[in-house]
Amino acid sequence: MCGIVGYIGPRQATPFLIEGLKRLEYRGYDSAGIAVYDGESIETRRAAGKIAKLEGTLSADPVTGKVGIAHTRWATHGPPTERNAHPHLSTDNTVAVVHNGIIENANVLRKQLTELGHTFRSDTDTETIAHLVQELWEGSLEEAVIGALRKVEGTFGIAVVSSKDPSKIVAARKGSPLLIGVGDGEYFLASDASAILAHTRQVVYLNDGDLAVLTPDGYKVMDINNVPLRRSVERIEWDLAAIERGGYDHFMLKEIFEQPTTVENTMRGRLILEDGTSKLGGLNMSHEQLMAVDNIVITACGTSWHSALIGEMMIEDLCRIPVEVEYASEFRYRNPIITPSTLCIVISQSGETADTLAAMREAKRRGAQTLGLVNVVGSTIAREDDGGIYLHAGPEIGVASTKAFTSQVIALALFALKMARKRTLSVMRGRELAQAMHDLPKQIQSILDRAAEMEKIADEYKDAHNFLYLGRGFNFPAALEGALKLKEISYIHAEGYPAAEMKHGPIALIDEKMPVVFIAPHDGVFDKIVSNIQEVKARGGKTIIITSRDEPALAGLVDHEFRIPETVDMLTPILASVPLQLLAYYIAVKRGANVDQPRNLAKSVTVE
Ligand code: F6R
Repeated sequence: MCGIVGYIGPRQATPFLIEGLKRLEYRGYDSAGIAVYDGESIETRRAAGKIAKLEGTLSADPVTGKVGIAHTRWATHGPPTERNAHPHLSTDNTVAVVHNGIIENANVLRKQLTELGHTFRSDTDTETIAHLVQELWEGSLEEAVIGALRKVEGTFGIAVVSSKDPSKIVAARKGSPLLIGVGDGEYFLASDASAILAHTRQVVYLNDGDLAVLTPDGYKVMDINNVPLRRSVERIEWDLAAIERGGYDHFMLKEIFEQPTTVENTMRGRLILEDGTSKLGGLNMSHEQLMAVDNIVITACGTSWHSALIGEMMIEDLCRIPVEVEYASEFRYRNPIITPSTLCIVISQSGETADTLAAMREAKRRGAQTLGLVNVVGSTIAREDDGGIYLHAGPEIGVASTKAFTSQVIALALFALKMARKRTLSVMRGRELAQAMHDLPKQIQSILDRAAEMEKIADEYKDAHNFLYLGRGFNFPAALEGALKLKEISYIHAEGYPAAEMKHGPIALIDEKMPVVFIAPHDGVFDKIVSNIQEVKARGGKTIIITSRDEPALAGLVDHEFRIPETVDMLTPILASVPLQLLAYYIAVKRGANVDQPRNLAKSVTVE
């Protein structure tokens, strides 16, 4: 959600800033802009729309200079116009700011600053920071930024440059990620490592409350009282290829097709077939601590919340420990019951989702042990949790989450297996589950090899206005996830429901125009879902059935069928989700939608 890039060094800043913005475009793509110090003043160029628009503006009216900041925006305050695009300037044009986050007291500050004679030129909350920095100037940019940050309430990742102190970028974070890239005689700033990976692998992750000053000669990190802080340099381990499309039409398709590998990577070195258990080095919990857990809360948002629902069923089924799943946005503002023996599992692809991070902090404050299931290495949740299981799915660039979802479910299965084997699960049953997990990558590949079948089904339904997704047991969350994938990238209204709930309301929607996707593998509730399929057929609904066998019970009930391999019940949602991802993808492409950058969305929601 919004991307920030900065450069200071011997090279021209603009080409780097544009390249960095393009790498971050998946974070927010409704407007973009840059500010560069050209030796005399701060020059800004901004444009509404994609980065390509900004490139057009820059080729008509270039800027040169070796210090610059840039931003790609996902609008919060004010519509996505050029006027609201970042960077924002102070009244005297000496200070430029880019900002990710929300300044909650912006209206109060705006009123005070207007009374002091400042002129506002946008509808954004961000602009207040630029005016505050000008107002509080006492000689150095970092002192003025510190003064400004003392006055703002809310969340921010910011980068600031000024023509009054031009050989500097000052950055600060509170609730919005930022990192420094350490190059060879040059320094970078970014909200996401993918922006700078082409130039350096050495990064310094800033913590909440950190302020950083970058100059052509180095960088320093301090707190808001100007007290120096030590922050270690870490190495990014993944390659540029991981954030490029590699011949696929879209990142989403690439990421769907990566799943045999990503699922394998999540399990690598962790699954112990012989003992029917798993080894999870990052949990940071002793055997005694794990045995003392008597209730689990899982908190997450969106797709990650769907994987949490599957995790709940796995853990309760295998470990007999009660589990509550909570939307992070609700959990953080309720009065949740947390005891000293509560384990709070936090699931987040990005590790930066504001609500999920806040929920984790709340659980910690109340004394829970926290365990993060996170994909992005070095992200805030990963650094603040008590223990964790990294997903190792590699960077996910497509805004619609695919490979992170299947890896989350695998990570939950690894955890459930470990906890269950410590308690009541027999080695024989443990081995059976471990073997089934081990077989998943090949099974996923066999589904992907038949992607064309799903493309044909998509062709038939691309013009539908509504979709219903129904599943039972472990596949109810798969139905929710299938519906979410379709609605977010194709803009077709879709609902996921537990299949038997349909007759309590949604059945009223069924007619010959309503496609209904049933997730009906041959599992423990297969016979039950057949009756629900009959109910839809009886009302003329069109059925698309994801199943795992040639089932006589389905004769006459199927308009379209997609076969998935058989596995143990708890792993069926992993296999079922792959054709659902393909269905959503192909429908969206056929409708001409921008699959990787769906309207109104952005990857990683770092605002409330
Ligand atoms: C849907 C999607 C979102 C995210 C949600 C949580 O495809 O990507 O629903 O799952 O915003 O994001 P993370 O997992 O990064 O916390």
